Amino acid sequence: MTWKEEYKNKLKTFKEAADLIKSNDRVVFEHAAGEPKSLVDAIVANKDAYENVEIVHMVPMGDAKYCDEDMSKHFRHNSLFVGSSTKKAVSEARADFTPTFFYQVPRLFRESLPVDVAIVQVSKPDEHGYVSLGVSVDYTKAACQLAKTVIAQVNKYMPRTLGESFLHVSEIDCFVECDEPIYELPNPKIGEIEREIGKYCASLINDGDTLQLGIGAIPDAVLSFLTEKKDLGIHSEMFSDGVVDLYNKGVINNKKKTTNKGKMVAAFLMGTRKLYDFVDDNPEVIMMPVDYVNNPVVIMQEDNIVSINSCIQVDLMGQVVSESIGETQISGVGGQVDFVRGASMAKNGRSIIAMPSTVKGKFSKIVPVIDEKAAVTTSRCDVDYIVTEYGIAHLRGKTLRERSKALIAIAHPDFRDELIKEHNKKFKDDFSL
Ligand code: COA
Repeated sequence: MTWKEEYKNKLKTFKEAADLIKSNDRVVFEHAAGEPKSLVDAIVANKDAYENVEIVHMVPMGDAKYCDEDMSKHFRHNSLFVGSSTKKAVSEARADFTPTFFYQVPRLFRESLPVDVAIVQVSKPDEHGYVSLGVSVDYTKAACQLAKTVIAQVNKYMPRTLGESFLHVSEIDCFVECDEPIYELPNPKIGEIEREIGKYCASLINDGDTLQLGIGAIPDAVLSFLTEKKDLGIHSEMFSDGVVDLYNKGVINNKKKTTNKGKMVAAFLMGTRKLYDFVDDNPEVIMMPVDYVNNPVVIMQEDNIVSINSCIQVDLMGQVVSESIGETQISGVGGQVDFVRGASMAKNGRSIIAMPSTVKGKFSKIVPVIDEKAAVTTSRCDVDYIVTEYGIAHLRGKTLRERSKALIAIAHPDFRDELIKEHNKKFKDDFSL
Protein backbone atom coordinates (compact mmCIF):
# COMPACT_ATOMS: atom_id res chain seq x y z
CA MET A 1 0.00 0.00 0.00
CA THR A 2 1.39 3.46 -0.88
CA TRP A 3 1.39 6.18 1.81
CA LYS A 4 -1.32 7.98 -0.18
CA GLU A 5 -3.62 4.94 0.00
CA GLU A 6 -2.83 4.53 3.68
CA TYR A 7 -3.64 8.21 4.32
CA LYS A 8 -6.96 7.89 2.47
CA ASN A 9 -7.90 4.80 4.49
CA LYS A 10 -7.13 6.60 7.75
CA LEU A 11 -9.09 9.75 6.85
CA LYS A 12 -12.15 9.96 9.13
CA THR A 13 -14.87 12.40 10.20
CA PHE A 14 -14.46 14.31 13.47
CA LYS A 15 -17.10 12.08 15.10
CA GLU A 16 -15.32 8.88 14.00
CA ALA A 17 -12.04 10.28 15.31
CA ALA A 18 -13.56 11.29 18.67
CA ASP A 19 -15.08 7.80 19.01
CA LEU A 20 -11.57 6.31 19.11
CA ILE A 21 -11.25 7.70 22.65
CA LYS A 22 -12.64 5.38 25.34
CA SER A 23 -13.75 5.97 28.92
CA ASN A 24 -10.83 6.13 31.40
CA ASP A 25 -8.27 6.87 28.64
CA ARG A 26 -5.42 9.31 29.24
CA VAL A 27 -5.44 11.73 26.31
CA VAL A 28 -2.52 14.10 25.63
CA PHE A 29 -3.21 17.26 23.61
CA GLU A 30 -0.62 19.12 21.56
CA HIS A 31 -0.47 22.51 23.31
CA ALA A 32 0.18 26.23 22.80
CA ALA A 33 -0.19 27.38 19.19
CA GLY A 34 -0.32 23.74 18.10
CA GLU A 35 -3.56 22.95 19.95
CA PRO A 36 -5.93 21.53 17.29
CA LYS A 37 -9.04 23.70 17.75
CA SER A 38 -11.67 21.76 15.80
CA LEU A 39 -10.46 18.35 16.95
CA VAL A 40 -10.61 19.45 20.61
CA ASP A 41 -14.11 20.85 20.02
CA ALA A 42 -15.17 17.53 18.47
CA ILE A 43 -13.94 15.61 21.55
CA VAL A 44 -15.89 17.94 23.86
CA ALA A 45 -19.00 17.60 21.65
CA ASN A 46 -18.68 13.80 21.91
CA LYS A 47 -18.64 13.92 25.74
CA ASP A 48 -21.63 11.58 26.18
CA ALA A 49 -19.58 8.78 24.64
CA TYR A 50 -17.17 8.74 27.59
CA GLU A 51 -16.65 8.97 31.32
CA ASN A 52 -13.53 9.93 33.23
CA VAL A 53 -11.25 10.77 30.31
CA GLU A 54 -8.04 12.36 31.61
CA ILE A 55 -6.87 15.29 29.47
CA VAL A 56 -3.19 16.18 29.84
CA HIS A 57 -1.40 19.18 28.34
CA MET A 58 0.73 22.21 29.03
CA VAL A 59 -0.17 25.72 27.75
CA PRO A 60 -3.91 25.90 26.87
CA MET A 61 -4.92 28.35 24.14
CA GLY A 62 -8.60 27.46 23.67
CA ASP A 63 -11.55 27.81 26.02
CA ALA A 64 -10.91 24.40 27.69
CA LYS A 65 -14.61 23.51 27.84
CA TYR A 66 -13.63 20.10 29.26
CA CYS A 67 -12.88 21.99 32.50
CA ASP A 68 -16.46 23.28 32.84
CA GLU A 69 -18.34 22.13 35.95
CA ASP A 70 -20.93 20.19 33.96
CA MET A 71 -18.15 18.17 32.26
CA SER A 72 -16.84 16.56 35.45
CA LYS A 73 -18.45 13.18 34.75
CA HIS A 74 -16.82 13.02 31.31
CA PHE A 75 -13.42 14.70 31.69
CA ARG A 76 -10.76 15.37 34.30
CA HIS A 77 -7.95 17.75 33.35
CA ASN A 78 -4.39 17.07 34.54
CA SER A 79 -2.46 20.27 33.89
CA LEU A 80 1.30 20.42 33.44
CA PHE A 81 1.10 24.22 33.02
CA VAL A 82 -1.98 26.23 33.99
CA GLY A 83 -3.38 28.92 31.68
CA SER A 84 -6.20 31.44 31.87
CA SER A 85 -8.84 28.94 30.71
CA THR A 86 -7.79 26.17 33.15
CA LYS A 87 -6.82 28.24 36.21
CA LYS A 88 -10.31 28.28 37.77
CA ALA A 89 -10.82 24.51 37.53
CA VAL A 90 -7.39 23.85 39.08
CA SER A 91 -7.95 26.37 41.90
CA GLU A 92 -11.37 24.83 42.64
CA ALA A 93 -9.80 21.33 42.71
CA ARG A 94 -11.98 20.22 39.77
CA ALA A 95 -8.74 19.73 37.81
CA ASP A 96 -5.27 18.62 38.90
CA PHE A 97 -1.81 20.06 38.51
CA THR A 98 1.36 17.97 38.13
CA PRO A 99 4.58 19.87 38.92
CA THR A 100 7.34 19.01 36.44
CA PHE A 101 10.35 20.41 34.69
CA PHE A 102 9.44 20.80 31.01
CA TYR A 103 12.39 18.69 29.83
CA GLN A 104 11.09 15.77 31.87
CA VAL A 105 7.60 15.65 30.34
CA PRO A 106 8.55 12.97 27.74
CA ARG A 107 9.95 10.89 30.61
CA LEU A 108 6.65 11.30 32.50
CA PHE A 109 4.86 9.88 29.47
CA ARG A 110 7.29 6.95 29.39
CA GLU A 111 7.27 6.17 33.09
CA SER A 112 4.47 7.84 35.09
CA LEU A 113 1.65 8.91 32.76
CA PRO A 114 1.31 6.30 30.00
CA VAL A 115 -0.48 7.82 27.01
CA ASP A 116 -3.55 6.14 25.53
CA VAL A 117 -4.36 8.73 22.87
CA ALA A 118 -2.31 11.62 21.42
CA ILE A 119 -4.30 14.47 19.83
CA VAL A 120 -2.11 16.55 17.52
CA GLN A 121 -2.13 18.97 14.61
CA VAL A 122 0.14 18.55 11.60
CA SER A 123 1.06 20.04 8.24
CA LYS A 124 -0.11 18.48 4.97
CA PRO A 125 1.90 15.34 4.04
CA ASP A 126 4.94 15.97 1.84
CA GLU A 127 5.74 13.91 -1.26
CA HIS A 128 7.36 11.20 0.92
CA GLY A 129 4.35 10.86 3.22
CA TYR A 130 5.76 12.83 6.16
CA VAL A 131 3.78 15.40 8.15
CA SER A 132 5.41 18.00 10.41
CA LEU A 133 4.31 18.69 13.99
CA GLY A 134 4.94 22.32 13.11
CA VAL A 135 4.91 24.75 16.03
CA SER A 136 4.99 22.19 18.88
CA VAL A 137 7.47 19.32 18.84
CA ASP A 138 8.41 19.61 22.56
CA TYR A 139 6.47 16.76 24.27
CA THR A 140 4.16 16.17 21.29
CA LYS A 141 6.53 13.90 19.41
CA ALA A 142 7.12 11.69 22.46
CA ALA A 143 3.35 11.54 23.10
CA CYS A 144 2.83 10.35 19.52
CA GLN A 145 5.58 7.75 19.72
CA LEU A 146 4.28 6.38 23.03
CA ALA A 147 0.49 6.57 22.50
CA LYS A 148 -1.60 3.53 21.67
CA THR A 149 -3.60 5.73 19.24
CA VAL A 150 -2.55 8.93 17.45
CA ILE A 151 -5.21 11.22 15.96
CA ALA A 152 -4.02 14.16 13.85
CA GLN A 153 -5.83 17.21 12.49
CA VAL A 154 -4.23 18.01 9.13
CA ASN A 155 -4.20 21.76 8.57
CA LYS A 156 -2.65 23.71 5.69
CA TYR A 157 -2.02 26.62 8.08
CA MET A 158 0.38 24.54 10.19
CA PRO A 159 3.91 25.43 9.04
CA ARG A 160 6.13 22.61 7.88
CA THR A 161 8.94 23.09 10.35
CA LEU A 162 12.17 21.13 10.03
CA GLY A 163 14.31 19.25 12.56
CA GLU A 164 12.90 16.31 14.54
CA SER A 165 9.39 17.46 13.77
CA PHE A 166 8.30 14.74 11.35
CA LEU A 167 6.04 11.72 11.61
CA HIS A 168 5.28 9.37 8.74
CA VAL A 169 1.64 8.76 7.76
CA SER A 170 2.16 5.14 8.89
CA GLU A 171 2.85 6.34 12.47
CA ILE A 172 -0.56 8.03 12.78
CA ASP A 173 -3.78 6.04 13.24
CA CYS A 174 -6.40 8.55 12.16
CA PHE A 175 -6.50 11.82 10.22
CA VAL A 176 -9.15 14.54 10.13
CA GLU A 177 -8.76 17.37 7.65
CA CYS A 178 -9.59 20.93 8.68
CA ASP A 179 -7.91 24.09 7.44
CA GLU A 180 -8.26 26.83 10.03
CA PRO A 181 -5.83 29.53 11.21
CA ILE A 182 -3.74 28.21 14.11
CA TYR A 183 -3.64 30.10 17.42
CA GLU A 184 -1.69 33.34 17.40
CA LEU A 185 -0.18 35.29 20.27
CA PRO A 186 -0.50 39.02 19.63
CA ASN A 187 2.62 41.13 20.16
CA PRO A 188 2.63 42.33 23.80
CA LYS A 189 2.46 46.03 24.70
CA ILE A 190 5.84 47.26 25.84
CA GLY A 191 5.52 50.08 28.38
CA GLU A 192 8.11 52.36 30.00
CA ILE A 193 8.81 49.87 32.84
CA GLU A 194 9.39 46.97 30.43
CA ARG A 195 11.68 49.22 28.37
CA GLU A 196 13.82 50.04 31.45
CA ILE A 197 14.00 46.34 32.34
CA GLY A 198 14.87 45.53 28.71
CA LYS A 199 17.73 48.05 28.81
CA TYR A 200 19.25 46.50 31.96
CA CYS A 201 18.92 42.95 30.59
CA ALA A 202 20.48 44.00 27.29
CA SER A 203 23.49 45.35 29.24
CA LEU A 204 24.15 41.77 30.42
CA ILE A 205 24.19 40.42 26.84
CA ASN A 206 27.38 40.45 24.76
CA ASP A 207 28.07 40.02 21.05
CA GLY A 208 28.16 36.29 20.22
CA ASP A 209 25.84 35.20 23.07
CA THR A 210 23.10 32.60 22.61
CA LEU A 211 19.70 33.47 24.05
CA GLN A 212 16.74 31.73 25.65
CA LEU A 213 13.71 33.98 25.98
CA GLY A 214 10.33 33.37 27.58
CA ILE A 215 6.96 34.73 26.44
CA GLY A 216 5.73 38.27 27.05
CA ALA A 217 6.49 41.96 27.17
CA ILE A 218 9.84 41.66 28.98
CA PRO A 219 11.54 39.27 26.51
CA ASP A 220 10.21 41.43 23.66
CA ALA A 221 11.54 44.58 25.33
CA VAL A 222 14.96 42.93 25.74
CA LEU A 223 15.04 42.07 22.04
CA SER A 224 14.25 45.67 21.10
CA PHE A 225 17.50 46.77 22.82
CA LEU A 226 19.70 44.27 20.99
CA THR A 227 19.67 45.88 17.55
CA GLU A 228 23.29 47.05 17.89
CA LYS A 229 24.61 43.61 18.97
CA LYS A 230 26.35 41.16 16.64
CA ASP A 231 26.29 37.42 16.01
CA LEU A 232 23.60 36.42 18.49
CA GLY A 233 22.19 32.89 18.52
CA ILE A 234 18.96 31.24 19.68
CA HIS A 235 18.64 28.04 21.72
CA SER A 236 15.28 28.49 23.43
CA GLU A 237 12.34 26.44 24.63
CA MET A 238 10.23 28.78 22.47
CA PHE A 239 10.50 32.00 20.54
CA SER A 240 8.19 34.61 19.14
CA ASP A 241 8.00 37.41 16.52
CA GLY A 242 10.73 39.56 18.14
CA VAL A 243 13.35 37.00 17.12
CA VAL A 244 12.27 37.25 13.46
CA ASP A 245 12.83 41.03 13.51
CA LEU A 246 16.35 40.63 14.90
CA TYR A 247 17.13 37.87 12.40
CA ASN A 248 15.97 40.10 9.53
CA LYS A 249 18.26 42.88 10.82
CA GLY A 250 21.21 40.44 10.72
CA VAL A 251 21.73 40.58 14.51
CA ILE A 252 20.78 36.93 15.02
CA ASN A 253 22.82 34.70 12.70
CA ASN A 254 23.71 31.77 15.01
CA LYS A 255 27.31 31.83 13.69
CA LYS A 256 28.96 31.85 17.11
CA LYS A 257 26.91 29.04 18.64
CA THR A 258 28.80 26.11 20.14
CA THR A 259 26.06 23.57 19.34
CA ASN A 260 23.86 23.59 16.21
CA LYS A 261 25.97 26.32 14.60
CA GLY A 262 24.00 28.34 12.05
CA LYS A 263 20.64 27.09 13.36
CA MET A 264 18.00 28.45 15.72
CA VAL A 265 16.80 25.68 18.02
CA ALA A 266 13.39 25.61 19.72
CA ALA A 267 10.84 23.16 21.11
CA PHE A 268 7.72 25.25 20.43
CA LEU A 269 6.76 28.55 18.80
CA MET A 270 4.09 31.12 19.68
CA GLY A 271 3.56 34.34 17.78
CA THR A 272 1.69 35.76 14.83
CA ARG A 273 1.41 34.55 11.24
CA LYS A 274 4.66 36.44 10.54
CA LEU A 275 6.51 33.93 12.76
CA TYR A 276 4.71 30.90 11.32
CA ASP A 277 5.55 31.98 7.75
CA PHE A 278 9.17 32.60 8.77
CA VAL A 279 9.66 29.08 10.14
CA ASP A 280 7.84 27.32 7.29
CA ASP A 281 10.38 25.10 5.47
CA ASN A 282 13.19 27.23 6.92
CA PRO A 283 16.39 25.17 7.24
CA GLU A 284 17.83 27.71 9.71
CA VAL A 285 15.16 26.79 12.30
CA ILE A 286 15.23 23.35 13.83
CA MET A 287 12.39 22.17 16.02
CA MET A 288 13.41 19.51 18.52
CA PRO A 289 11.86 17.49 21.37
CA VAL A 290 11.97 19.24 24.74
CA ASP A 291 14.09 16.52 26.36
CA TYR A 292 16.81 17.74 23.99
CA VAL A 293 16.23 21.53 23.85
CA ASN A 294 15.58 22.02 27.58
CA ASN A 295 17.86 19.33 28.92
CA PRO A 296 20.36 21.12 31.18
CA VAL A 297 23.06 18.72 29.98
CA VAL A 298 22.48 19.95 26.40
CA ILE A 299 22.12 23.61 27.40
CA MET A 300 25.39 23.53 29.36
CA GLN A 301 27.26 22.73 26.12
CA GLU A 302 26.23 26.09 24.67
CA ASP A 303 28.97 28.55 25.71
CA ASN A 304 27.76 32.09 26.51
CA ILE A 305 24.11 31.13 26.86
CA VAL A 306 21.90 33.73 28.54
CA SER A 307 18.42 32.78 29.77
CA ILE A 308 15.78 35.45 30.42
CA ASN A 309 12.58 34.58 32.28
CA SER A 310 10.10 36.29 34.58
CA CYS A 311 8.52 35.71 37.97
CA ILE A 312 5.82 36.65 40.48
CA GLN A 313 7.87 37.26 43.66
CA VAL A 314 11.44 37.15 44.93
CA ASP A 315 12.25 37.03 48.63
CA LEU A 316 15.28 38.65 50.19
CA MET A 317 17.19 35.32 50.08
CA GLY A 318 16.69 35.11 46.30
CA GLN A 319 14.00 32.42 46.26
CA VAL A 320 11.97 32.92 43.08
CA VAL A 321 8.22 32.25 42.86
CA SER A 322 7.18 32.07 39.20
CA GLU A 323 4.06 29.94 38.95
CA SER A 324 1.69 30.62 41.84
CA ILE A 325 0.15 33.56 43.65
CA GLY A 326 0.04 32.16 47.16
CA GLU A 327 -1.62 28.79 46.78
CA THR A 328 -3.23 29.61 43.43
CA GLN A 329 -1.40 28.00 40.55
CA ILE A 330 -1.37 30.46 37.62
CA SER A 331 1.16 28.86 35.28
CA GLY A 332 3.85 26.20 35.70
CA VAL A 333 7.55 25.58 36.09
CA GLY A 334 7.82 25.39 32.31
CA GLY A 335 11.42 25.62 31.19
CA GLN A 336 12.56 28.21 33.71
CA VAL A 337 14.62 25.91 35.92
CA ASP A 338 15.87 23.85 32.95
CA PHE A 339 17.51 26.97 31.51
CA VAL A 340 18.59 28.49 34.84
CA ARG A 341 20.44 25.23 35.62
CA GLY A 342 21.78 24.70 32.09
CA ALA A 343 23.08 28.27 31.94
CA SER A 344 24.67 27.95 35.39
CA MET A 345 26.74 24.99 34.15
CA ALA A 346 27.63 26.48 30.74
CA LYS A 347 30.92 28.27 30.11
CA ASN A 348 30.14 31.97 30.71
CA GLY A 349 26.43 31.11 31.04
CA ARG A 350 24.14 33.59 32.80
CA SER A 351 20.50 33.42 33.89
CA ILE A 352 18.33 36.47 34.34
CA ILE A 353 14.96 36.65 36.10
CA ALA A 354 13.43 39.99 35.08
CA MET A 355 10.26 41.52 36.49
CA PRO A 356 8.60 44.86 37.20
CA SER A 357 9.38 45.90 40.80
CA THR A 358 5.67 46.07 41.72
CA VAL A 359 2.31 44.61 40.78
CA LYS A 360 0.64 47.64 39.15
CA GLY A 361 2.26 49.91 41.79
CA LYS A 362 0.28 48.23 44.59
CA PHE A 363 2.61 45.60 46.05
CA SER A 364 6.33 45.01 45.90
CA LYS A 365 7.39 41.87 44.05
CA ILE A 366 10.54 41.86 46.20
CA VAL A 367 9.37 40.70 49.63
CA PRO A 368 10.91 39.65 52.97
CA VAL A 369 8.94 36.38 52.93
CA ILE A 370 7.08 34.80 49.99
CA ASP A 371 3.31 34.51 50.19
CA GLU A 372 2.00 31.70 52.36
CA LYS A 373 1.64 28.41 50.40
CA ALA A 374 3.40 29.80 47.30
CA ALA A 375 5.68 27.35 45.45
CA VAL A 376 9.36 28.22 44.98
CA THR A 377 10.23 27.70 41.32
CA THR A 378 13.91 28.73 41.15
CA SER A 379 15.77 28.04 44.38
CA ARG A 380 18.13 30.45 46.10
CA CYS A 381 21.04 28.17 45.14
CA ASP A 382 20.12 28.34 41.44
CA VAL A 383 19.33 32.05 41.15
CA ASP A 384 21.84 34.28 39.34
CA TYR A 385 20.70 37.77 38.18
CA ILE A 386 17.46 39.52 39.20
CA VAL A 387 16.53 42.60 37.15
CA THR A 388 13.82 45.25 37.73
CA GLU A 389 13.32 48.71 36.21
CA TYR A 390 15.59 49.96 39.06
CA GLY A 391 18.63 47.88 38.14
CA ILE A 392 20.44 44.57 38.40
CA ALA A 393 21.07 42.41 41.49
CA HIS A 394 23.72 39.73 40.95
CA LEU A 395 23.03 37.12 43.64
CA ARG A 396 25.23 34.14 42.77
CA GLY A 397 28.01 33.68 45.29
CA LYS A 398 26.59 36.35 47.60
CA THR A 399 25.77 35.88 51.30
CA LEU A 400 22.19 36.21 52.49
CA ARG A 401 23.06 39.65 53.90
CA GLU A 402 24.58 40.80 50.56
CA ARG A 403 21.62 39.39 48.57
CA SER A 404 19.16 41.19 50.76
CA LYS A 405 20.95 44.54 50.25
CA ALA A 406 21.29 44.01 46.49
CA LEU A 407 17.58 43.20 46.14
CA ILE A 408 16.46 46.15 48.26
CA ALA A 409 18.51 48.43 45.98
CA ILE A 410 16.41 47.34 42.96
CA ALA A 411 13.04 47.33 44.79
CA HIS A 412 10.53 50.10 44.13
CA PRO A 413 11.46 53.16 46.26
CA ASP A 414 7.99 53.16 47.89
CA PHE A 415 8.72 49.78 49.50
CA ARG A 416 12.42 50.10 50.32
CA ASP A 417 11.98 51.46 53.90
CA GLU A 418 9.85 48.49 54.87
CA LEU A 419 12.35 46.06 53.34
CA ILE A 420 15.29 47.84 55.03
CA LYS A 421 13.53 47.51 58.39
CA GLU A 422 13.16 43.74 57.86
CA HIS A 423 16.77 43.47 56.72
CA ASN A 424 18.16 45.36 59.71
CA LYS A 425 16.06 43.30 62.11
CA LYS A 426 17.16 40.00 60.59
CA PHE A 427 20.84 40.80 60.15
CA LYS A 428 21.24 43.12 63.18
CA ASP A 429 22.48 45.64 60.65
CA ASP A 430 22.14 49.40 60.21
CA PHE A 431 21.89 49.31 56.40
CA SER A 432 20.40 52.30 54.58
CA LEU A 433 20.34 53.48 50.96
N1 COA B 1 1.26 39.21 43.71
C1 COA B 1 0.00 39.14 43.23
N2 COA B 1 -0.27 39.05 41.90
C2 COA B 1 0.77 39.04 41.04
C3 COA B 1 2.09 39.12 41.48
C4 COA B 1 2.32 39.20 42.88
N3 COA B 1 3.56 39.27 43.38
N4 COA B 1 2.90 39.11 40.40
C5 COA B 1 2.11 39.03 39.32
N5 COA B 1 0.82 38.98 39.70
C6 COA B 1 -0.34 38.87 38.82
C7 COA B 1 -0.40 40.00 37.79
O1 COA B 1 -1.03 41.15 38.30
C8 COA B 1 -1.20 39.34 36.67
O2 COA B 1 -2.57 39.36 37.03
P1 COA B 1 -3.71 39.63 35.93
O3 COA B 1 -3.59 38.47 34.96
O4 COA B 1 -4.95 39.61 36.73
O5 COA B 1 -3.36 40.96 35.31
C9 COA B 1 -0.73 37.89 36.73
O6 COA B 1 -0.20 37.68 38.04
C10 COA B 1 0.37 37.56 35.73
O7 COA B 1 1.41 38.51 35.89
P2 COA B 1 2.11 39.22 34.63
O8 COA B 1 3.19 40.10 35.17
O9 COA B 1 1.10 39.82 33.72
O10 COA B 1 2.66 37.93 33.93
P3 COA B 1 3.55 37.62 32.70
O11 COA B 1 2.68 37.38 31.53
O12 COA B 1 4.68 38.58 32.52
O13 COA B 1 4.15 36.21 33.19
C11 COA B 1 4.94 34.68 34.83
C12 COA B 1 4.89 36.14 34.37
C13 COA B 1 5.89 34.59 35.99
C14 COA B 1 3.55 34.21 35.26
C15 COA B 1 5.44 33.80 33.64
O14 COA B 1 6.66 34.31 33.23
C16 COA B 1 5.60 32.34 34.02
O15 COA B 1 4.64 31.60 34.03
N6 COA B 1 6.85 31.90 34.32
C17 COA B 1 7.12 30.53 34.74
C18 COA B 1 7.44 29.64 33.56
C19 COA B 1 8.64 30.08 32.77
O16 COA B 1 9.43 30.91 33.16
N7 COA B 1 8.80 29.45 31.62
C20 COA B 1 9.92 29.69 30.74
C21 COA B 1 9.62 30.53 29.59
S1 COA B 1 8.29 30.03 28.55
